[in-house]
Amino acid sequence: MEDVAAVILAAGKGTRMKSDRPKVLHEVCGRSMVEQVIHTAGEAGCRRCIVITGFKGQDVRNAICEPVEFVDQAEQMGTGHAVLQTEPLLDGAREQYVLVICGDTPLLRAETLQGLIDACCRHHASASVLTAVMENPNGYGRIIRDAGGAMKSIVEQKDGNPDELAVHEVNTGTYCFEVRALFEALHQVKNDNVQGEYYLTDVFSILIREGQTVIPVEAKSPEETLGVNSRRQLSEADHVLRRRKIFELMDSGVSVIDPDHTYIGQDVKIGQDSILYPGCILEGSTVIGKHCIIGPNTHVCDFRCGNFCRLESVYAHNCSMGDRNEAGPFVHLRPQTQIGNDVKIGNFVEIKNSVIGDHSKLPHLIYCGDADMGSRVNMGCGSVTVNFDGNRKHRTKIGDHAFIGCNTNLVAPVAIGQRAFTAAGSTITRDVPENALAVGRSRQKNIENWVQKDTYKE
Ligand code: UD1
Ligand code: CA
Repeated sequence: MEDVAAVILAAGKGTRMKSDRPKVLHEVCGRSMVEQVIHTAGEAGCRRCIVITGFKGQDVRNAICEPVEFVDQAEQMGTGHAVLQTEPLLDGAREQYVLVICGDTPLLRAETLQGLIDACCRHHASASVLTAVMENPNGYGRIIRDAGGAMKSIVEQKDGNPDELAVHEVNTGTYCFEVRALFEALHQVKNDNVQGEYYLTDVFSILIREGQTVIPVEAKSPEETLGVNSRRQLSEADHVLRRRKIFELMDSGVSVIDPDHTYIGQDVKIGQDSILYPGCILEGSTVIGKHCIIGPNTHVCDFRCGNFCRLESVYAHNCSMGDRNEAGPFVHLRPQTQIGNDVKIGNFVEIKNSVIGDHSKLPHLIYCGDADMGSRVNMGCGSVTVNFDGNRKHRTKIGDHAFIGCNTNLVAPVAIGQRAFTAAGSTITRDVPENALAVGRSRQKNIENWVQKDTYKE
């Protein structure tokens, strides 16, 4: 393929979103729209990507992690004016062609962009434009053709006469241009239209008038070309992308019981034969292994999970676990937690910034924070690591095979030796040696006949 640079328009405010955030930062399927478009341009083979920013430009720049170049459009004077700002970066560059995409069309597929580039390069055309036939073309620019079907121009909704507005073939705002032809035409664009803007779309009538080759390429699925201008359209786009992700996972051997009630971010990876029950939200860089059963109602973000794990009603973020673990229901796994293999975490357990060794059990009602737990430890019901002294956090160490009795408070910093026991209800403030039993509670005393005869009337 030819070397093609991508230019992404992201300077507009997006007035119709009614938002303080720039439109292109609104997210679809866990990614901002502009990042989604950058990603697709990369997949289509564009190695160089230039993003035009303007409205809250610094916010847009901060939100983009990909290695792109930025150009500022200080005043938003239209899409043609926006693209003109890239001239210093593209003039004399090695790329002969440029792909121009709006930052608000997140559903475009890489194959579609490749088709558009291919049409332009193969025919040595000055431009190709992706068009779509829409049942309701309202709001889009229309593709105007002559009696013979050859393209003449693009007319914006606000400038169109009734005959032009009756056309259902629209401009998707996605183009490939030969760089020199683009800028030569852009310099001739004027702003004598209803919006007083410099329209990128006016380049087409200029090129056609000059007898240059312009190729309209009709999109196979118009759904892909949705331009998001409102929150309603944002939710439509989100729905389409989520479905795409879920179907991809299904095709790779993952079962999703109810796709309408499962939300999986685009960067999430899931191994074969894993099953997702309804009510799952998997976000960020989450990786789930093979043969896991996730859900119902599990919300994880930046979470790594091995194979053969079973999670129900778990909320986990920025933490990891190995293989064959069970967690839930109602478990909270907090950042910097590392769980080994064959661990059992039962209901109402919270674990934070802790390492849990293999085969350990935390079956019910436990708070475990800032702990280094060995293997085959049993932490009884209601036990707590007392990790905070009101000022600083301290760590608790629990050796292999230790048995923490029910309702033990482990007041950190404290270490429990291997195979040691703590008696139920103990408050442990000093280290416990290996193999010892620590009893840290007052002895029981029974007071005979303490209840007065007349305490109860009946
Ligand atoms: C544009 C097209 C229209 C097409 C539609 C497809 C023009 C004149 N019209 O209209 O033919 O059918 O997209 O979705 O191009 N932007 C800037 N700087 C500006 C103005 C806009 O960067 O000065 C950016 C916006 O952030 C947005 C994109 O360009 O990402 C499109 O702008 P928008 O105002 O949404 O154009 P439409 O009216 O939808
Ligand atoms: Ca738009």
